[in-house]
Amino acid sequence: MSTLLIKGGTVVSATGRTAADVLVDGERIVAVLQPGSTLLGHDLAAGVDTVIDATGKYVIPGGIDAHTHMELPFGGTNASDTFESGTIAAAWGGTTSIIDFAVQKYGEAVETGLAAWHDKAGGNCAVDYGFHQIIGGVDEQSLKAMETLVDEGISSYKLFMAYPGVFYSDDAQILKAMQKAAELGLMTMMHAENGPAIDVLAEQLYESGRTAPYFHGIARAWQMEEEATHRAIMLADLTDAPLYVVHVSAKQAVAQLAAARDRGKNVFGETCPQYLYLSLEEQLGAGGEDGFEGAKWVCSTPLRSREEGHQDAMWQGLRTNDLQMVSTDHCPFCMKGQKELGKGDFRAIPNGIGSIEHRMDLLYQGVVTGELTLERWVELTSTTPARMFGLYGTKGVIAPGADADIVVYDPAGHTSIGYPTLPDGSPSGRSHHMNMDHSAWEGYEIDGHVDVVISRGSVLVADEEFHGRAGHGRFLKRGLTQYLT
Ligand code: URP
Ligand code: ZN
Ligand code: ZN
Repeated sequence: MSTLLIKGGTVVSATGRTAADVLVDGERIVAVLQPGSTLLGHDLAAGVDTVIDATGKYVIPGGIDAHTHMELPFGGTNASDTFESGTIAAAWGGTTSIIDFAVQKYGEAVETGLAAWHDKAGGNCAVDYGFHQIIGGVDEQSLKAMETLVDEGISSYKLFMAYPGVFYSDDAQILKAMQKAAELGLMTMMHAENGPAIDVLAEQLYESGRTAPYFHGIARAWQMEEEATHRAIMLADLTDAPLYVVHVSAKQAVAQLAAARDRGKNVFGETCPQYLYLSLEEQLGAGGEDGFEGAKWVCSTPLRSREEGHQDAMWQGLRTNDLQMVSTDHCPFCMKGQKELGKGDFRAIPNGIGSIEHRMDLLYQGVVTGELTLERWVELTSTTPARMFGLYGTKGVIAPGADADIVVYDPAGHTSIGYPTLPDGSPSGRSHHMNMDHSAWEGYEIDGHVDVVISRGSVLVADEEFHGRAGHGRFLKRGLTQYLT
C-alpha cells in the first residue's frame, strides 16, 4: 500500500473551498489537513511515497459521468468507444467513475442484457464503473427482473418515450414500470421525447427532400420534448416514482421540471455539454455542400436554437437547481463508416456525440464566465451524481474514508480540444483520446487544465502522461438514491 500527499492546493467541495493538504493511504483518503500539518511532529511530506505539489491549483473530487454508452449497438452500428478506450479518455479528462447503460433489448431477458454488459466492461475499464439498466421491453418478465436490480447494485433504470421499434415504451408500459420502481426505490431515468410523432415528422421531411442532418433537429421539435417531459412527470406523480429526465435540451422541458419541483415532486433533470454550447444554427451552417458535416452533432434530444434561448435556459437551470447534473451522454460514432450511414437520409445517422474527455473542462468554462461558482461546478460534476445514484461517501467528496478519487485542476492552465489529424492528414497539434475520427468540440479553447488524476490512490494521469491501465476500474455496486423521500 503506498501513501500520497497532495500539498498546497485549494480543496473544493460542493459547499466550500479551503487551503488544505490531502493524505492518501492505499485506496482511501485518510486525512484532510491544515496546510503544512505535521503528524505527531513528523513532516508528512518526508514520510510518504509520493508528494504532489498542488500550489495554485484546485483539488477536487474525481468527476462522475452518470450517462455513458460504451459499445452501444445503435442505428445499425456500435458506439465507437470500447470500455477500455472510453474510460481511458474519461481519465484524461478528470472523470474517475462512469455509469454506463446496460441494455435489455426487446425480447431478451434483462439478466442476459446485464450479463453482456458485465462481459464487455469487466477487466477492461481504466476507471470505476457502474450500470443503469435500460429496459427496452417492458413486460411481465422484465418487470419481475427489475426486482433483482437493487441486489445487483443497479438502483436506476432507463425507459424511452422515443425510438419506436427499438427501445420505445408506451404509456401503459411506463406506468407499470414506474409502479414497480416506486415499490423498489429504483430511480426511473427517462428519455423524454414523443417518438411516434417525431417519426411522422421525420418521414414527412425526408419525403419532401429535406434530408440533411440539420432536419434531425427540426423533426425532434421542442414541443416533442416538452410534451413527453410533462407526460413523464404526470406518470411519475401518479405512481409516486422518483423521476430523472436525461439529456434535457429544451427550455420548455426545464420549465416543466421546475414547475413539478415547485409542487414538491421528486423530479430531477440532467443536461449535457452539447446543450450548453452547441446549437441548431451552427449545425445548419456546418460545412459541406450537403451540410453533412452537421452529422457530427446529431444526437437525441437534438441541439436547439440559440436564438430561442435554450442554451441560456440550461445555464440558468443549472444555477437555480432546476437541473441538478451535467453528464455527457457519451455515445461516439466515427464519421467514416458510421455517421455517413445517414448520407442522404438524416434518419439513418447514428445518434450521439462523444464528450467524456471534455466534460470537466467544458463545464469549468461556466466558472470562468461567471455562470457557476467553483463549488457548483464540483456539485454538478461529482457530488450530486454520487448522491443521485447511490455512491456518495465513497465517491463525490474529498473526506477521510472516501475513495482517493482526486483531480488536481490548474485554473491557470490551458487545454486545446481537437482531433489528432487535420482533414489532409497532417497533425493538428491537438488531440483527444476518444475512439473517434473527429471531435464534436474541434477548436474549443479551454481556460483550465486537468493536471493530475488519481483513482483509488493510483495516479492515472500526470505530466501529460497516462499511467493507468485497463482493468484498474472496478464495478460499483450502487445503493439507492439519496434523493428519495
Ligand atoms: O443521441 C443519443 N443520445 N444517443 C444515445 C442514446 C440515448 O438516447 O441516450
Ligand atoms: Zn436517451
Ligand atoms: Zn444516452
